[in-house]
Amino acid sequence: MSSNRTAAPPGWFSSGTSRAGRVRGVVDPREDEKRAAAEAAAQEVEDGMAVGLGTGSTVAHFLPALAARRLDLRCVATSPATETQARALGLNVQPFDLLDRLDVAVDGADQVSAGLWLVKGGGGAHVREKVVAAAADRFIVIVSPDKLVESIGPPVPLEVMAFGFPATLRQIRAVGPAEARDAPATPDGNILVDYHGEVPDPDSLAAWLSATPGVVGHGLFPPGLVSLVLVGRPDGTVDRLTP
Ligand code: 5RP
Repeated sequence: MSSNRTAAPPGWFSSGTSRAGRVRGVVDPREDEKRAAAEAAAQEVEDGMAVGLGTGSTVAHFLPALAARRLDLRCVATSPATETQARALGLNVQPFDLLDRLDVAVDGADQVSAGLWLVKGGGGAHVREKVVAAAADRFIVIVSPDKLVESIGPPVPLEVMAFGFPATLRQIRAVGPAEARDAPATPDGNILVDYHGEVPDPDSLAAWLSATPGVVGHGLFPPGLVSLVLVGRPDGTVDRLTP
């Protein structure tokens, strides 16, 4: 398994890579893998469902695949970028305060471990993404094979309150190295931080982060949240991983 543990820079998409997956005019072969996973996820959605829409370049493939099915859906977006793209495609995006549960949520990930722990938040949307995933009966993760790792490692994205930020950062740094990301505040007004310490026990780190005042959320998603991981392959086939 290979590892992709580099957090994306500010914004919702990786630097130098457009939604079309072109880097300096060259088509990124990863895009075919992402598209295969995304199209398989679109087939999991049924008419009348309430659907959570994740964030990132893999989800950017999911949105047109979902829109093409022309289903009657109510959708919730996890970021302004997703909301804009989804609306432009004709998807019915509603404020999350109009729905108290979702049938399914579909999102990408930065890392998927062998035990199905996830690291999310390379695009900085992990707090909203976790709220949406937790509200869904099924959480489907769509990735290219480079996201599969044996075990979770740094960086782990965090979202930290601006109030008392230096004090919270000092608490985090008592456990491991961490840096504020050079990125705008999140839509909820918080500061993005990347934790660069090792993660020998994701459960313990997740519990510690969740219990630390000022840490609004972290990008560690436990296996219990995951219903299905769809891994797109270069030949268009898709592997299905379940907990
Ligand atoms: C955004 C996320 C993304 O789902 C994650 O970064 C994967 O992005 P991509 O599909 O562009 O590789 O967690 O906060």
